[in-house]
Amino acid sequence: MEEAKYIFVLQFLLAALALGSSGIQAQEVNYDEAKVPAYTLPDPLLLTDGSPVTDASIWRDHRRLEILRLFEQQVYGKTPDQAVTLRFETKSVHTGAFNGIATRKEITVYFTEDDNGPSMDLLVYLPSDRVEPVATFLALNYYGNHSIHPDPNITLSSSWMRPREEFGVIDNRATEAARGVRASRWPVEHILERGYGLATVYYGDIDPDFDDGFQNGVHPLFYDQGQTAPAAHEWASLGAWAWGMSRAMDYFETDADIDAERIAVMGHSRHGKAALWAGAQDERFALVISNNSGSGGAALSRRRFGETVERINTGFPHWFAGNFKQYNDKENTLPVDQHMLLALIAPRPVYVASAIEDRWADPRGEFLSARHADPVYRLLGTDGIATQQMPGISQPILSTIGYHVRRGGHNVTTYDWERFMDFADRHLQH
Ligand code: GCU
Repeated sequence: MEEAKYIFVLQFLLAALALGSSGIQAQEVNYDEAKVPAYTLPDPLLLTDGSPVTDASIWRDHRRLEILRLFEQQVYGKTPDQAVTLRFETKSVHTGAFNGIATRKEITVYFTEDDNGPSMDLLVYLPSDRVEPVATFLALNYYGNHSIHPDPNITLSSSWMRPREEFGVIDNRATEAARGVRASRWPVEHILERGYGLATVYYGDIDPDFDDGFQNGVHPLFYDQGQTAPAAHEWASLGAWAWGMSRAMDYFETDADIDAERIAVMGHSRHGKAALWAGAQDERFALVISNNSGSGGAALSRRRFGETVERINTGFPHWFAGNFKQYNDKENTLPVDQHMLLALIAPRPVYVASAIEDRWADPRGEFLSARHADPVYRLLGTDGIATQQMPGISQPILSTIGYHVRRGGHNVTTYDWERFMDFADRHLQH
């Protein structure tokens, strides 16, 4: 009996030690709406000095810039201002793809003068029956351009990839077996049938997604003399991925088949966070879509529902600016919340898509961001979001701020794409 007591005490002490050594284990993930803490969101329509934003020009010339600076300094880190000399090399153009319905192009975007320096491969499909420059979706992919479709003519990526045998990635490289492994997320023919182009880039071309102290990818191109890593207020990986999307936009501006004024930037999950940040910074993107972007994307940080700031900073220390770590477990001290990221996109249309079982990404928190961006959208003369209440499953809202929550979990489905195209039909097609 005595012995059992000692063992119990010992176990208790060990457990306490383990919890103490990692805040992550100490905090349970909250999935209970009743346990969402009370919070007050920063008001996007109040300047830092407390004065109200009463018209579009105060928003445009003052408040928008304040908010942009805060996201740069405190959340994603500042994207370097220096322009790089880009080189676009069209590697192939095939006009008869998919039995003639598509034109397929592959373009390498070099970020330096050096062919061996960092570069990204852009894969573009355009409808063959286009009669004018075509509105195009741009989205990063997770497993290489060849993963989005079994088309054997897509160049197999030679970039570093997270190992995943069932996706044909062996020893960090894609193999022939990797072709089309992610096709379910990319209804390419259907997108073309609906009259849109599709462009994609493997995100690891821009910055490989692991914490290496920012030695690979595009960060070193911008280091000052002697600098070896971004400073606490400078960009990290999400910032680099967003930057890469803007470089794709630079290419679109040179391609007469693509309407650079009608580019919809779309991203799923971490790419959704990057797409929102790209759309916030680069106003050339005409429309922005977040799919299941969750924490650090569309979801409000202050709700602490599902993935929190501390968890994301711990699990993915290379995604956000060093400064963002100050807000671990202190969401209420953030000078912004994610509704203000959506507001930076105003008055351009923005669509937020959630999945009901993807609680980690906090579907309600994603909706609430959309809703709380509404006053800015209305100030700028749009219809904002058409509902104050979170809509039911599969009841899409297609106002200038759009939203849906669908059945199922963390994924990109044909349902999602159909709604993105409905939204684009309404806001991008003339
Ligand atoms: C993890 C991460 C999320 C992210 C997701 C993804 O789940 O915690 O923040 O959105 O990966 O990118 O798939």
